[in-house]
Amino acid sequence: GLANTREMFKKAVNGGYAIPAYNFNNLEQLQAIVTACAETSSPVIVQVSKGARDYANQTMLRYMAMGAVEMVREMGAQIPIALHLDHGDTLELCKSCVDSGFSSVMIDGSHHSYEENVALTRQVVEYAHAHDVTVEGELGVLAGIEDEVQAEHSTYTRPEEVEDFVQKTGVDSLAISIGTSHGAFKFKVKEGEEPPPLRFDILAEIERRIPGFPIVLHGASSVVPEYVELINAYGGKLEGAVGVSEEQLRRAAASAVCKINIDSDGRLAVTARVREFLANNPGEFDPRKYLGAARKELIKLIKHKNETVLGSAGKA
Ligand code: G3H
Ligand code: 13P
Ligand code: NA
Ligand code: ZN
Repeated sequence: GLANTREMFKKAVNGGYAIPAYNFNNLEQLQAIVTACAETSSPVIVQVSKGARDYANQTMLRYMAMGAVEMVREMGAQIPIALHLDHGDTLELCKSCVDSGFSSVMIDGSHHSYEENVALTRQVVEYAHAHDVTVEGELGVLAGIEDEVQAEHSTYTRPEEVEDFVQKTGVDSLAISIGTSHGAFKFKVKEGEEPPPLRFDILAEIERRIPGFPIVLHGASSVVPEYVELINAYGGKLEGAVGVSEEQLRRAAASAVCKINIDSDGRLAVTARVREFLANNPGEFDPRKYLGAARKELIKLIKHKNETVLGSAGKA
């Protein structure tokens, strides 16, 4: 069956690597994720956002994840798979996911006041733990690309809050904000310049205050330049798309960061191969052909991440 994240995180923190958390919304994404993770012997978290639930239906996605567990078993692989709610925003939604069989949920109360975040997160933890479901909370708000000053200090996690938050809420892991953001446009950089480094000083201070506690990094796509170039070469228009370098992610994975969230890179891989395929095969109209090409690329991308960036390959 599905696994919760407790054991995965314990091993990852001690082993100096991170568990990949890949978002999925459809069959091909899920097949690619679990196939790549089975073939690299990597534990994996498959996660479902609010957008994914609206698109594909929560029940459908849950059965797909359960089917993926079966498929992996039939492949002869033994890897733990967690089904996680990404960015849950209410107690009701988290309860509904717990009741229906998700093994892990995130309650993202980071937009509320500190006290409200603590109270909401605590309620989710009480309910989830009674059902052996693990809970991810969040402190600090991920920077949005629209922010004029994209390194606005107030949005970073305040290390002085983490110990109190973890103790009062009982969460199993904590998402933090150290300079990443969601999507494909994470940093405004001028031609030829490097994006600013993540705030590893804040991460170090957090680790000092809650040693060995599992930390989660959202907004961790690298926005793979090859995919952006391919998309633009085949009629797309993604100018100035920039992500987090693999070097920065490797450093994070070696720390108490034990879950790294990746969605945008998968979207870019799919779009790049679909655009390329359709441009090169104008007479083709079988979705299995272009989605098959996309799925193949996704498998390659995920193996690469597990093996060379997160360090989760061989850890199942
Ligand atoms: O946290 C954001 C994830 O990439 C999910 O995005 O809400 O468009 O599915 P989404
Ligand atoms: P990316 O947009 O960088 O892939 O981040 C995904 C994420 O954090 C999902 O919760
Ligand atoms: Na780690
Ligand atoms: Zn996120």
